[in-house]
Amino acid sequence: MLKTNEDQTSQAAVLTGGAGVIGTAFAYGLAQAGIRTAILDLDKSKAQDLAKEIADETGTEIIGVQCDVLSIDSIQDADAEIAEQLGPISSLVNCAGGNSPSATTNAEKLSADLSNLEDSFFGIDVSGFRQSLDLNLLGTVLPCSILGKRLVGQKSGSIVNISSMNAFRPLTRIPAYSAAKSAVSNFTQWLAVHLAPTTVRVNAIAPGFFLTEQLKYLAFDENGELTPRYQRVLANTPMARFGEPEELVGTLLYLLSEGSRFVTGTIIPVDGGFSAYSGV
Ligand SMILES: NC(=O)c1ccc[n+]([C@@H]2O[C@H](COP(=O)([O-])OP(=O)(O)OC[C@H]3O[C@@H](n4cnc5c(N)ncnc54)[C@H](O)[C@@H]3O)[C@@H](O)[C@H]2O)c1
Repeated sequence: MLKTNEDQTSQAAVLTGGAGVIGTAFAYGLAQAGIRTAILDLDKSKAQDLAKEIADETGTEIIGVQCDVLSIDSIQDADAEIAEQLGPISSLVNCAGGNSPSATTNAEKLSADLSNLEDSFFGIDVSGFRQSLDLNLLGTVLPCSILGKRLVGQKSGSIVNISSMNAFRPLTRIPAYSAAKSAVSNFTQWLAVHLAPTTVRVNAIAPGFFLTEQLKYLAFDENGELTPRYQRVLANTPMARFGEPEELVGTLLYLLSEGSRFVTGTIIPVDGGFSAYSGV
């Protein structure tokens, strides 16, 4: 019989980018479910301060570990620290990621008279493009390779990656981030198939528009008013609002639970209906 209200307290999770906005909501959600967690982040003090705050509040064992998801040495060091402090892990949540401002075009479309070349795709700094591909794609692949190895051969294991709406259809202005998240979705499905003979499942969450730091610089003008672009986003979100990071936690816990034990290779939108809506 499948347990729907299982006790998840025997689990231990690793959460990359865990000191960010969505990571913080995830870390709280994991701790409140009793899942012992290692918060990994580039920013060591943020990860450690957050871990202490959550552990004090929830009583669940949470540790903060410095880790650069783009460095094999750094992930291996984190892995050793996690093994020593938390023991075996049951899940990996790859939350480090984000858009690179230098791979963002000012214009949504190139004008027919070519008057805005610099503001178009042709003005993009290739290093920003590379940065975005690295952080989102390799920053998911490398932890899966090093930390995911520890999941294989255990009783059960779940990897959850973070994709985005722009993986289904690219959003204007952010070609690198769109391509990178599309690759994250594709890699999620690839790894799910590859690991299917083991007990390790691999899925992704595709958040819609959440009012986080990354979104704020795009969504509001200097007067704090919602830009026309984000007015359009809300007009295309049937629930007509931005998401709260806490609203991603239920899907995460589901994907880590026995309740989803036959679920692998899925990309689950949590988006207020954005991806379902044609705009008409
Ligand atoms: N904000 C949204 O609406 C939204 C929508 C769709 C997807 N996402 C995705 O959700 C995830 C979290 O987004 P967020 O808004 O919480 O971002 P955030 O910027 O608040 O958090 C990202 C965290 O990752 C850490 N980080 C950056 N580079 C790192 C590296 N090399 N190694 C380890 N840690 C690193 C940062 O220090 C930061 O704490 C990202 O993958 C993002 O692309 C966000």
